[in-house]
Amino acid sequence: MLTRSVAAIVALCSLTHAQSSTERIIPTLSPQVAAAPSLTPSVYDPTAPNAQQCPGYKASNVAESSGGFTADLTIAGPHCQAFGNDIDALTLEVQYQTKQRLNVKIYPKYLAATNYTRYILSPSLVLAPAWDGQTTANSSDLRLTWTNDPTFQFKITRSSSGEEIFSTYGHVIVFEDQFIELVTNMVDDYNVYGLAENIHDWRLGNNFTQTFYAVDAGNTVDGNVYGTYPWYQETRYGNGSANTTAHGVYARNAHGQEWLLRDSTITYRTIGGSFDLYFLSGENGDGSSSALTTISQFISGCVGNPAMQMYWTFGFNQCRWGYQNISVMQSIVDGYRDANIPLEGVWNDIDIYSLYRDFTNDPNTFPVDEMRAFVAELHANGQHYVPIVDSNTYAPNPDNASDAYAPFERAAALGTFIRDPTTGDFYYGDNWPGFSSWADWLVESSQAWWTSELMAWHDDTPFDGIWIDLSEPSSFCAGSCGNGRLNENPVHPPFLLPNDPLQANYQYPEGFNISNATEAASVSAASASQASILSTTTLLPVPTTTTQGRTNPTPGVRNLNFPPYVLNSVLAGHSLVKGSVAPNATHNDPSNTTEYELHNLFGYSISNATYNALLSVFPGKRPFTIGRSTFAGSGRTTAHWGGDNTSTWGSMFLSISQALTFMMSGLPMFGADTCGFSGNTDNDLCSRWMELSAFFPFYRNHNVKATISQEAFRWSSVAEASRRAISIRYSLLTYMYTLFYYAHTEGATVMRALAWEFPEDATLSGAYAQFMLGPSLLITPVLIPNVDTVQGVFPGIGEGTNWYDWYTLQPVTAQPHENVTLSAPLEHINVHIRGGSILPLQTPGNTTAATRSNPYSLVIALDESGEASGSLYLDDGESLIPNATKLVQFAYASGHLTTTVSGSYQAPPPLANITVAGAPCLPKNMSLTVAGQQRPAHNLGLEYNAGVLHVSGIHEHTRSGAWEGEMEMMFHY
Ligand code: GLC
Repeated sequence: MLTRSVAAIVALCSLTHAQSSTERIIPTLSPQVAAAPSLTPSVYDPTAPNAQQCPGYKASNVAESSGGFTADLTIAGPHCQAFGNDIDALTLEVQYQTKQRLNVKIYPKYLAATNYTRYILSPSLVLAPAWDGQTTANSSDLRLTWTNDPTFQFKITRSSSGEEIFSTYGHVIVFEDQFIELVTNMVDDYNVYGLAENIHDWRLGNNFTQTFYAVDAGNTVDGNVYGTYPWYQETRYGNGSANTTAHGVYARNAHGQEWLLRDSTITYRTIGGSFDLYFLSGENGDGSSSALTTISQFISGCVGNPAMQMYWTFGFNQCRWGYQNISVMQSIVDGYRDANIPLEGVWNDIDIYSLYRDFTNDPNTFPVDEMRAFVAELHANGQHYVPIVDSNTYAPNPDNASDAYAPFERAAALGTFIRDPTTGDFYYGDNWPGFSSWADWLVESSQAWWTSELMAWHDDTPFDGIWIDLSEPSSFCAGSCGNGRLNENPVHPPFLLPNDPLQANYQYPEGFNISNATEAASVSAASASQASILSTTTLLPVPTTTTQGRTNPTPGVRNLNFPPYVLNSVLAGHSLVKGSVAPNATHNDPSNTTEYELHNLFGYSISNATYNALLSVFPGKRPFTIGRSTFAGSGRTTAHWGGDNTSTWGSMFLSISQALTFMMSGLPMFGADTCGFSGNTDNDLCSRWMELSAFFPFYRNHNVKATISQEAFRWSSVAEASRRAISIRYSLLTYMYTLFYYAHTEGATVMRALAWEFPEDATLSGAYAQFMLGPSLLITPVLIPNVDTVQGVFPGIGEGTNWYDWYTLQPVTAQPHENVTLSAPLEHINVHIRGGSILPLQTPGNTTAATRSNPYSLVIALDESGEASGSLYLDDGESLIPNATKLVQFAYASGHLTTTVSGSYQAPPPLANITVAGAPCLPKNMSLTVAGQQRPAHNLGLEYNAGVLHVSGIHEHTRSGAWEGEMEMMFHY
């Protein structure tokens, strides 16, 4: 509902324009160093200084310290002022923190001195990995060597083999108050992964710049997006007899930054803070190293294991921007029920709110009483409800008593908002509701305020989790544009919204013109006609931007809004001032830290605060919160969706690499807006995407307002594809949950790249059109339109690995590295089970709760030696600290299945049947022992057909719960 006056709209836009006159564009070269055309700032300014011509540092005063040494680094020549003011004296700290992890810190020696980069990321904000109290240079997997010739350079090698994994040799270290840089040498054609969040090929390649500056700009391919995970994992394939090696590098720094991946180097630059580098050996303890080990060294050792999620959160969710009232919500729930498609959760976007203000319900469309009744019915049906909470807080119009907004008043009274340094008042940017402020998470009272707002709102709208949006934090105008103008509130955002006049969306997926030729032609005509009207109509003045021009460093001054180094941010003009809360916005902590330092941590902080608030809303329960902007370590509290993708095949494909980078970054509860957010989807894309996302941990269909509806029941093919895919997903819920248990306890991954599971096969180094779910399932989705086959490889074939089709349990016949063409009718997704796996399954129900109480079964997929193993984790599915858990280990060899059970959690459903794929023939007979007691085998069903052995009737012997006693089953041949 839009209630803003046109005058207010125009006023806001013209103000934005007025502010742009404060632009500072000084495209002149800093005189001290020469320009360099390549590897210069990624805005590709040919006149920018080449910081590698700075003088570097000399090390002196080396002193042994706990687990390593310290030294002084002193600037080795005149200041170069490349992109800031040089800092003369630095401290180097080298610490062999654990056998597998080596830390190198370089930071200003005189931290308190003025004009220096003073912000060193606090361990109270972002975990700082520490020394284990025992590792030394002699016992470490890694070794640091350094030289002063000609200036300080260091390299990290493996102690065992001398393999060089990082080296600044040949390059200087640059340390200025607004710019730090180091360069590492890389091997040819290196395999580097990570640096999430990016919308890019999974293997990053050596012609890529990753910019980290959280931005509200959709899923910009190759640009900065929402999250910052400054870590990469590198794999080097062995030649012939040499094994593949893997290691990792984490640079703990939250400032705006860039990683320039080039032919033979990676350049790491930030606009502040310090070098705080963690080198991870990836070693397994036997001399080998692997990507999966490196990843768990990063997750468990550096940022913390991800949160264990509630069982229900693995169900399928439906959301959309544009569910305009409760009846529409009810019709969605009914639509799923009538189509017999399981629906676990329904979500509300900003439509729920009154005038887009957090924690309100629109009294006309989402009245509190009806909302309570609606959610109560969902709960009665085992379903759940999640609403959005935007990161800004509307600042009410002081001249209009009826515009009062209590959440703002309560926070203002506590002084918990970020401030505008020019006025000392709160910072007033602009977002959906109009001029708004942002909580200052460095202030303790912000948490109490946030908790109490969420608790109060939960009384009205009994949600089950919270979706945090716009946490970059997004602001639509330049700077604190609401200063002195709150009396114009509520102002319309300075751009047109999807349901504003002449904003019909005519985008359709690739291939739509083939599958829907007639409709595509009429859409194309309508689109041309709208474009032609728009070309002659001014609906809103075109919003202007503040261009980020390169500024020269001023001695003694840090230019926060227009730093000398221009990050290649995707916003127009590379602006840091418009699009989000500006860098000079100031916090209320004793040091008056600014957003310049904290920008990339806003989303991390608000998600942490939401997690903490939910601990009070649901005492003892695991909070479910999903956030847009995240940082390394966010997985400990939050889930993440991939943000504003598009309804295109390309976007769906890239969601896999986005997911894999989150899996390796300690945030496994990831999923993309299924069927696509922006633009219209079609039945082909939506069918394939519903199939694909069924194998992502977080599963939600969501789209933008003013496009066609895309709930799974809208097309018969999507409905059928969804029913089939969800039934596989739900039968595997317990497998997914067990994967999460290992992620939560050991930093393991959930979705996996083929290269992680098959590390010796260099042909898989860039593969992400297929992926694995855990160690046992290979998913081969269709990623292109209008086809009914798909190609995929079966890794490990010919080298001891075998595969079975999920549906038929028949073995796959393929040659090593063969790209096999598989049948893939529209409603079918190819899933294969890796030989050697034991999968615990449950009969799928319509909700996760129903599934949890259905009987278990086991699928035993034998490897080439006739063996298999697996595990199952169980608990109540919701308690933060469950009072009982159970871990069941399965092993099968020589026709003999055993289970080993530890823990006391009691899962009531029985074990109904066991299926063995790859069985040689029908056994002569079999025996079953449960809890040490031999059971009569005559009432067990035993069937054999084409390699598949099926045992039924086991529930008779497991009535008190499938895993209540250890079990042995023996087939006698
Ligand atoms: C942002 C979110 C999107 C949401 C929209 C409206 O674009 O990323 O998911 O639907 O805002 O709230």
